[in-house]
Amino acid sequence: MKERPIAFLDSGIGGVSILKVVKHYLPNENYIYLADAKNNPYGTKTKEELFQIIDHHVQDLLTYHPKLIVVACNTATTMVLGKIREKYKNIPFIGTEPALKVIHDHYPDSKTIVLATKGTEYSERFQELCNLYQTKNTQVVEVDELASMIEQNSPQIEEYLKEKLAPFKGTEVVVLGCTHFAFIEKEIKYIGSQLSPHWIYKNFHILGDAIVSFIGEMDVKITEMVDIEDVITDSPIYSKK
Ligand code: DGL
Repeated sequence: MKERPIAFLDSGIGGVSILKVVKHYLPNENYIYLADAKNNPYGTKTKEELFQIIDHHVQDLLTYHPKLIVVACNTATTMVLGKIREKYKNIPFIGTEPALKVIHDHYPDSKTIVLATKGTEYSERFQELCNLYQTKNTQVVEVDELASMIEQNSPQIEEYLKEKLAPFKGTEVVVLGCTHFAFIEKEIKYIGSQLSPHWIYKNFHILGDAIVSFIGEMDVKITEMVDIEDVITDSPIYSKK
């Protein structure tokens, strides 16, 4: 391998949403992506089960000598990344967390919902984030089946979303608390627009920034809100400062 890669890990395709953004900004890096579709969904696993799974994958990924491991999954990050970091003290990890800090900093008074798995919602880390950012107007919508439905390209996604989102009329901000959901952003926007949310926050931008600054490309900053499709089609979406 010509250079040590940046490794990505998720329970399937979800983390590709982040990989695409990062790849766009750092095109000269090498990447490896571990899509653990076999164990999808992570959101219904116990903490111990998920720790075993992630631990096993980290050991696999280490055989590629990555310069960084990105846990591109909110569920794995909030449930077990703390313990993984304790075990692998010399390996740099970047995790993915629901964007509660952004809500605190920019939309503290907006009626907000976080779409997330049960695993994320009940993790200690998520509770810590809620306490830290005092997200008083924020509610979690548990959508455990959604990541698997996205993996399988299920035709029921719209119906499922309609049912889950129906009780949240008047929502202003929707946080995508699972990397898979970036792939159904259009559906969320469409159904959301009937409920009246005027914001959808994409946590892959925050994560992208973290990775870019970790790698040291400080002259590149992901500041714009971009659509995944833009990244796929390689349209010019960033500026070099
Ligand atoms: N991409 C994962 C996340 O961000 C999917 C969750 C799952 O596998 O249940 O939470």
